[in-house]
Amino acid sequence: MAQVFKHYTNTVAKVTIAVVILLIVGGGVAAWEVNNSYNVYRREAVTQPVPFSHKHHVTDDGIDCRFCHTTVETSSFAGIPSTHTCMTCHSKIWVNSPMLEPVRESYLTDASIAWVRVNALPDFVYFNHSIHIAKGIGCTTCHGPIGDMPITYRENTLYMRWCINCHKHPWRYVRPKKDVFSVTYKPLADQDALGHQLVREYHIKPPLVITSCYTCHR
Ligand code: HEC
Ligand code: HEC
Ligand code: HEC
Ligand code: HEC
Ligand code: HEC
Repeated sequence: MAQVFKHYTNTVAKVTIAVVILLIVGGGVAAWEVNNSYNVYRREAVTQPVPFSHKHHVTDDGIDCRFCHTTVETSSFAGIPSTHTCMTCHSKIWVNSPMLEPVRESYLTDASIAWVRVNALPDFVYFNHSIHIAKGIGCTTCHGPIGDMPITYRENTLYMRWCINCHKHPWRYVRPKKDVFSVTYKPLADQDALGHQLVREYHIKPPLVITSCYTCHR
């Protein structure tokens, strides 16, 4: 009888361990699948109420980012231009363009244009534009070739591993501060050497500090 009892517990133990391992592996795979399915990312143009073109305004007309994104150097939020900003020009030029009808209507009714967000982080993540601008990280490093976009799209995933990759190796991405707003800047051939020099010059905090959880989850 003792032997049967022993045999029986053995089987239970084996089955239990197998089930636990299956649960752990399966659970891990399921979590990964779920994460990949709700967090899908595609580089696609976003349909906006007005087909606003950065290519026209930035590259063809030479308008600086800060003319429209007025708080990007001073605050966490870059700022989205008001209808008033559009009308400084469009009350004088292209005044009859049908594409600009929603802009004129917004101006007359005082209701702001409902731009659709292109880049957005979850609420539990802290992000700040001004610190990145002040330390020589260019708009196009995070937002891609904005000066070539007829319609704005999201260039990068904005996943945590994307942020951390740069916080671990800032010298691969930092550029001279005078080029932060440039849409034509290309990383130099000796980026690594220049990067290490700029990291020292701009007093960029060490990777150990800016990869701590508290930096982005406060
Ligand atoms: C004439 C005004 C104007 C100028 C100049 C301008 N932008 Fe914009 N920008 C807008 C408007 C309007 C939107 C919202 C519509 C859209 O997403 O295209 C926008 C949206 C964006 C977005 C996406 C915002 C989101 O929802 O995530 C980014 C990124 C951006 N601009 C970067 C830049 C950069 C970089 C420059 C300078 C190289 C620049 N912009 C110059 C008007 C402007
Ligand atoms: C500093 C002047 C200036 C400002 C500010 C400005 N635009 Fe423009 N916009 C232009 C010029 C110049 C053109 C002609 C584009 C070209 O062909 O290069 C234009 C063209 C356009 C067009 C295309 C019109 C058509 O019929 O083809 C749209 C749409 C537009 N702008 C939307 C906006 C919006 C929305 C804003 C505010 C967020 C804005 N613009 C702010 C100067 C400006
Ligand atoms: C280090 C990466 C990074 C750099 C550099 C950067 N951005 Fe952003 N930008 C982001 C992220 C991330 C978001 C989404 C923020 C959120 O949802 O809180 C964003 C959002 C925006 C938005 C939407 C409004 C807002 O503030 O949420 C605009 C407009 C914008 N960026 C413009 C710019 C311009 C102009 C520059 C350069 C002067 C720039 N960004 C530089 C990462 C960056
Ligand atoms: C291409 C490089 C790059 C990317 C991408 C990037 N960062 Fe940064 N970030 C930096 C640098 C450089 C600093 C400056 C560190 C310092 O203060 O010296 C910084 C600073 C910060 C700070 C302030 C840290 C402090 O205490 O001074 C926060 C918060 C932050 N980043 C959040 C984010 C988040 C969230 C993302 C992703 C959505 C992100 N960053 C993506 C380069 C980057
Ligand atoms: C440089 C910024 C940054 C740092 C540092 C950082 N995170 Fe995150 N974290 C993010 C961003 C951005 C997201 C949202 C995007 C995503 O889910 O990848 C996020 C999401 C998360 C999530 C939600 C997971 C999910 O898949 O939705 C958890 C949990 C998390 N972080 C934990 C941590 C822990 C623990 C640390 C420290 C070891 C840490 N983070 C450090 C930027 C950061």
